[in-house]
Amino acid sequence: MELKLELIKRLIAKWADRDNRWLSMPCTLAALFVLLVMVKSCQGIAYNFTNECKIYKLGYTIDEARTLVATLSEAQEDTLIAHQEHDTIAIPMLGMRYFIADNFSRYLAFHKKNSTSAPLDVIVALVNVGYDRDRGSSAVPCDTSKGQLMLVNGRHYLDENYKPENLATFSMDYCYENQRAQSVVVDAFMVMQQACKEQTDAQLMVNSAYRSYQDQIGTYKRNPKGYAARAGSSEHQTGYAIDVTSRQHPMRWPFDTSVEGVWMREHCHDYGFILRYPKKQSQIFGFAYEPWHLRYVGKDVAKRIHDEDITFDEYYAYYIEGPTPR
Ligand code: DAL
Ligand code: ZN
Repeated sequence: MELKLELIKRLIAKWADRDNRWLSMPCTLAALFVLLVMVKSCQGIAYNFTNECKIYKLGYTIDEARTLVATLSEAQEDTLIAHQEHDTIAIPMLGMRYFIADNFSRYLAFHKKNSTSAPLDVIVALVNVGYDRDRGSSAVPCDTSKGQLMLVNGRHYLDENYKPENLATFSMDYCYENQRAQSVVVDAFMVMQQACKEQTDAQLMVNSAYRSYQDQIGTYKRNPKGYAARAGSSEHQTGYAIDVTSRQHPMRWPFDTSVEGVWMREHCHDYGFILRYPKKQSQIFGFAYEPWHLRYVGKDVAKRIHDEDITFDEYYAYYIEGPTPR
């Protein structure tokens, strides 16, 4: 009898255990569900504070918002968000060939300020070279340590005491009065003029080469506006610039359209020179078109500038100063 009682007791205990298990299963599931919902809503709340979400809320698609966040720095994202509107040029801007992320907000501001219909690549070029900044206050000393790649223009100036170290003199067969330039320039000119003579039968001549700061003061006074730089802003002071015409066409403008003038424009990059002030976008370099003014930058850089059809100012902004990796 006692044995039977013990057995019943054990059976009841077992059933009770089983009941607990059946009861506890839904509770556990419900708890897990609540936890999941809580985690999800916390994530949702946190997402609202991300720049991706804030940009998305301005009207960009989620993919665009992700691209912007992946490309821009946090400070640039904040600028975009501060604009408080969907800027239609923001996304196309990212795809521009010479886009520099550090300049992103300046591209947007330049576009907005000028209500400009200028193509985006022009906006990128102008902002990259500092056209959107006040010339006087944004001017910086030229970094002469860059040697034959130093940039001299209205925003990068040379000290009045700067004088090149390796000046050499051109043979009087190739100039009308004593002219000097960096020795590497004199050598490159000799090779170029020889090739030009062989191919066009014309003799290239150097009209002007190295000019000191003091010389440039006079040049600036004598020349029409736009054709001469202020002293300190002329790359003639570097010794890497030469003004070229030919014995057959000593004046600058007939030289421009002469066979040898055209030859020089098309071939000077093979000898390390670039046409420094080409016809396109003179706002970029700040002077008039000068088909006679060559700048020596070395063969590799000259070829790149020629092939990519950019100015030296653009080359310098993109390939030497930027773009800064994030
Ligand atoms: N003609 C160029 C701009 C100079 O004076 O340097
Ligand atoms: Zn010149």
